[in-house]
Order: sequence, then C-alpha cells, then structure tokens
Amino acid sequence: MAAKSSSRGSTPPPPMDDLEFARWVRLLETRTGVTVPPERKPFLVTGLRRRMRETGHTDYSRYYEELLDGARGAVEWAALVDHLTVHETHFFRHLPSLELIRKEWLPLWAQDVAGDQPVHALSVGCSTGEEAYTLALVLDRALGEHGGYRRFGITATDVSQSALSMARSATYPLSRLEEIPAAYRAEGIEPDGEDQFRIAERLRKRVGFACVNLMHASRAPLRQLDLIYCQNVLIYFARERRGELLDGLARLLRPNGLLVLGPGEVTGWSHPQLMRFGGRQTLAFLRQSKETQA
Ligand SMILES: C[S@@+](CC[C@H](N)C(=O)[O-])C[C@H]1O[C@@H](n2cnc3c(N)ncnc32)[C@H](O)[C@@H]1O
Repeated sequence: MAAKSSSRGSTPPPPMDDLEFARWVRLLETRTGVTVPPERKPFLVTGLRRRMRETGHTDYSRYYEELLDGARGAVEWAALVDHLTVHETHFFRHLPSLELIRKEWLPLWAQDVAGDQPVHALSVGCSTGEEAYTLALVLDRALGEHGGYRRFGITATDVSQSALSMARSATYPLSRLEEIPAAYRAEGIEPDGEDQFRIAERLRKRVGFACVNLMHASRAPLRQLDLIYCQNVLIYFARERRGELLDGLARLLRPNGLLVLGPGEVTGWSHPQLMRFGGRQTLAFLRQSKETQA
C-alpha cells in the first residue's frame, strides 16, 4: 500500500473510542484468532498507530477500509499483523518440555517405529525461530543417543512474515547465547562476525519455515507429524476457540506422536485418541499407538 504523502507528518490519529476498538478487535480475531481483551487496548492501539505512522495514515476508518481492499489490502495486512502480535521468544524456553521429549518420549517413539524413519516435527507460532532451532538442537543430540542416527525435519510456522524472515536468517545477537546450554553450543552454533552467532548449517538445513495461520493449520500441506510443539500461542486465542484448534493439530499427529503445549495454556481439553503424557510441570498429549486404538 503506498504511503499517503499528503497526510505524512500530520497530526496522529485521535484517541480510539470503544466502538472503533471493537471493530479492530473483531478484524484481528477473525483473521488470526488472536483476541485482545479491553485491558490490552493500549497494545493494539500502539501497534496500529506505529504502522499507520509508517504508511502515513491518520484516520482509523480510512485505514480499515483500505485493509479490506483486495490484494493491496492483503499486502498491507501482512505488514500490520506484525505490529499486532507478540513475538517474544527464547531459546530453551521451557526446559521441562524439552526434557520430556528427550528423556521420555523419544525412547518410546524410537522403540515403536522402523529404524530408518525420520522424526517430523512442527513448531507452531515459531516467531523468530528460537523454538524451532531449540528443537533441532535437542533432537539432533537425543537421536544420536538413542541408538543409531536417525534423521529429523522440522517445519516451523508463524503468521508474521517479518518474524519468519529473521528466523530464516538463523542469526542472533551474542547476548542471546547464554540461553543455549553450554553442552549444545560447541556443535550447534557458529560465530557470525563480532557480535552475532548463527545456528550451524547442519541444523539450519533441517528446519523449514512457512507462513501458516494456525487457524488454517489443519488445511496446510503438513505431513503426518511425530511431534507438534505449540507454546505461548494459544494464550492469545479466545478460550472457546482453543479446543477446536487443538482438535485440528491432533489430526496431524501420527500414532505415538506427541503434542506439547505450554503448561496452563489450555484447561479441560481432551481428545478421544490422545492421552496425557508426562508430569505436572508439562502439558503434553500422546496419540495412542495403533495397537492401543484397536
Ligand atoms: C509469543 S510468540 C511465541 C513464540 C514461541 N512459540 C515461544 O514459545 O517462544 C507467539 C507467536 O505466535 C504467532 N501467532 C499469533 N497468531 C498466530 C496465528 N493465527 N497463526 C500462526 N502464528 C500466530 C505470533 O506471530 C508470534 O510469533
């Protein structure tokens, strides 16, 4: 969408009234599933204004109409959604979940599937890639430990194009290095100039990024998956929608596949083919093997 040169630099949009706010909340929720409660209004308004400033808009309604305007609107929406979503993330963000994968699930999984079958994993709402590369570091090491080297592949998805392009670069400031346990650093990362590091090429090659809206994940061309990792994403969705999204993810899991959520991110959800797996520090569900289902 072309910048509005006539209004560039002119007065900022006025305070947003409740009706206008409700309209933007509806748009965001319809398109991404992300819901913004009234107490988060400042977050939405700040993000929206930032983007309006960048494009020279000063009028909420006019900008709203332009977003609905065909292909041009779709391009602008892709840029705006970056400003309206939270991208905070870390390497090794939730250690108990990673330990569950490494120590409890992988040995079980490896017993059940043919020796040459790779692990296919999905990182949902991967933001700038830290979660996906963490899984790559963990799987790489753990698969080496569990008898014979098996391959793995990770698909990492997000709705934000700019987060994905940072993820694809696999380059992070040195200050983030301390998030990666020392044992993983020697083989997992490489220096990149004086103040950055990069995920090692061997691991980068195992991770592919794609712009997929979680609301449409079950329609995406994703193969049957062994591991789905979805943390700190569902919390932004309305509670009543979370179960439906999880049902969609559950359909993508192979028998003995594991769905890992963030603890507390969903309560009261169950699925006929999935059972709780792991202790109270984690929230994970195992798809029953074919024998158990029979
Ligand atoms: C707080 S980050 C979490 C990153 C990572 N999963 C973690 O736990 O560190 C949430 C991510 O979810 C993404 N997101 C929000 N709505 C989404 C949707 N409908 N489909 C896919 N990703 C979405 C955001 O763009 C953001 O990058």
